[in-house]
Amino acid sequence: MGIFTKKPIGKLMLDSADGESGLKRTLSAANLVALGIGAIIGAGLFVRTAAAAANNAGPSVTIGFIVAAIGCALAGLCYAEFASMIPIAGSAYTYSYATMGELVAWIIGWDLVLEYAVGAATVGIAWSEYLNKLLEMFGLRVPYEWSHSPFETLKDASGQVLHHGMMNIPALFIIFMITMLLIRGTKESAVVNGIIVISKVSIVILFIVLGWSYMVPANHTPYIPEASTYTDTQGVAHNYGGIWGILGAAGVVFFAFIGFDAVSTAAQEAKNPKKDMPIGILGSLVVCTILYILFAHVLTGVASVNDFRTQGKEASVAYAIKTYMHGYTWLANLVTVAILFGFSSVILVMLMGQSRVFYSMSRDGLVPKIFSDLHPKFKTPYKSNWIFLVLVGAFAAFVPGDIVGDMTSIGTLFAFMLVCAGVWILRITNPELPRQFKVPFVPVVSVLGILVCGAMIAGLGWTNWARLGGWLVIGLVIYFGYSKKHSKLKD
Ligand code: ALA
Repeated sequence: MGIFTKKPIGKLMLDSADGESGLKRTLSAANLVALGIGAIIGAGLFVRTAAAAANNAGPSVTIGFIVAAIGCALAGLCYAEFASMIPIAGSAYTYSYATMGELVAWIIGWDLVLEYAVGAATVGIAWSEYLNKLLEMFGLRVPYEWSHSPFETLKDASGQVLHHGMMNIPALFIIFMITMLLIRGTKESAVVNGIIVISKVSIVILFIVLGWSYMVPANHTPYIPEASTYTDTQGVAHNYGGIWGILGAAGVVFFAFIGFDAVSTAAQEAKNPKKDMPIGILGSLVVCTILYILFAHVLTGVASVNDFRTQGKEASVAYAIKTYMHGYTWLANLVTVAILFGFSSVILVMLMGQSRVFYSMSRDGLVPKIFSDLHPKFKTPYKSNWIFLVLVGAFAAFVPGDIVGDMTSIGTLFAFMLVCAGVWILRITNPELPRQFKVPFVPVVSVLGILVCGAMIAGLGWTNWARLGGWLVIGLVIYFGYSKKHSKLKD
């Protein structure tokens, strides 16, 4: 027994059986697709698209979206097989515990903190950008100092520093509000989420349709810029243009797809997990991919790369509409309001995913019991929600959006690679287990998934590799210092 201990599937199933202390089963397939789209469309589309166009790929960010979608579809298939076979809260963490042993499971669980908790912080920061756009409608603004991290500065055209960031208060505020909502329970949250999903999809379609005739061919020329290096306003160098630009952009906008796997973390709350999980995961992925490619094409056609590097850097979609689509100020305002609600639903699913992963890890003894204490009335892991409020709030308030965004992407890509490998391993070690949904062409799909996700990690560059490495080292220290000794499977 030790780092290679695998959790028997039978025991997993037993743990998930409904009991007095268990989570309630309230979500249908439609709820799950809504939950997926609720988690998927967010800051990745409305903020990171412009960042990827500015720093990495220009208009060919659309090709980046295609690469990211391929990676997600491959990993998504693997997720769906796992979710149909092991319908238990915990996502990739749970699956890997059954297949690759405790150490790998720990690494994934720890890595998922990047995806869910740091991801929620990223969206919180994006929320803060659009909040300022909303306030602008009334001639107001949260001062730069109090809506940016201490690592950001605002410079004028000559490079003179005008303002230093101190703390992102609006980002902290929204994380706090959503945590309070979550503590009240997922049933209510799913209803709110449904309304938000409809408005979010509507504004994406509206922007594509109305913006189409405002595209300027010059903005799309050349579609794939020549390979060069671009140093952004904060002094960070990026590979721009060519194939590395596209791969870098794919890694950045990959953020926009994160969330479909969060559906799998709700497996324990699904009414019919075996059938509904694959529908929830793949259904939400397909809808979003089509919308993203069209949206990115229109956005980079309406405004130029230079806009996204300067005045249009923040709240880029509202900026593009206001600046270039004359007569559509109402659309910019509508988009801003819908985005604020839309981002909230993303934060909700991310934070929910986070608490569910740690719920499972806590039940297994790998993190302290406090993470699985349920609220006596609401049956939510409320103490865990409070703890993550502190962590996520700190990231949201004090770290720049680009950094947390890329950390989220790289952490998730790494988890996806392990999930792709896990499906393959389980086919060999446990071929007899019933699988409601089977990935076709294993191991080809697994290998391709690993390669495509690996290429995006390569595109994200060495600073991000170093951050991921540092994060994993901290995780290993905790594992060997605490989790291994407290694991319930140790004897
Ligand atoms: N996919 C989510 C977003 O774009 C995380 O905000």
